[in-house]
Amino acid sequence: MTPTEAVATRRSVRAFTDQLVERETLARVLEKAQRSPSGGNVQPWNAIVLTGEPMQTLFDRVAQEFPKGRAALKPEYDIYPDGLDGRYEEHRFGVGEDMYAALGIAREDKGKRLQWFAQNFRAFGAPVLMLVHTPKYMGPPQWSDIGMWLQTVMLLLREEGLDSCAQEAWAAYSPQVREVVDIPADHIFFCGMAIGYRDPDAPVNAFDVERARLEDSVRWEGWR
Ligand SMILES: Cc1cc2nc3c(=O)[nH]c(=O)nc-3n(C[C@H](O)[C@H](O)[C@H](O)COP(=O)(O)O)c2cc1C
Repeated sequence: MTPTEAVATRRSVRAFTDQLVERETLARVLEKAQRSPSGGNVQPWNAIVLTGEPMQTLFDRVAQEFPKGRAALKPEYDIYPDGLDGRYEEHRFGVGEDMYAALGIAREDKGKRLQWFAQNFRAFGAPVLMLVHTPKYMGPPQWSDIGMWLQTVMLLLREEGLDSCAQEAWAAYSPQVREVVDIPADHIFFCGMAIGYRDPDAPVNAFDVERARLEDSVRWEGWR
């Protein structure tokens, strides 16, 4: 698989088959991903890779919070900035709408939307959930390094025939995550990542996720 193929075939997968993932396969991916670049070679990423019983314990613990609704959501950072607007907000809104359309869930059907959102907290049926954390003193440059590492992991997963969905949603339940999983107190819990084999028949894995036009993201200077 070329890098272009890995990039082109990676998408956020939100329905997985029951097929288990071998630890050796993930270890291979994560070992290779250690080659990811980072400013000053700081390598600020830390991860816990869950499967089986501890993962199920986490799912059950977080599910206990669902009846409390939004009051239970306590992310340790702002998942989106206040004042997200223009094309940024359009894309954020658009991907949600396109996803619910693919699932056949109407905009007004808040109950079904919430039910679907709760799938985040079962890792969309994936057999593996990776949780990512970093020391609290790390700043935006190091968070960006973590992003590079996450993308490297996601592309290498493609090479192994695996798929993933990065999941900031888990941050909303960080106190419960910390109850079940040992994340150092002086680290911030950033996100989860569902990992497994894609269900090729699930419509939620097949809708188009639009991208900005290149000219909206990139400006050229000094070129003819
Ligand atoms: C750091 C990060 C966190 C994300 N968190 C979630 C999440 O909690 N739930 C979810 O369904 N998708 C999540 N996504 C997936 C994005 O919605 C997705 O990457 C974006 O819409 C582009 O679509 P694509 O990944 O299918 O190309 C996340 C992606 C990233 C990079």
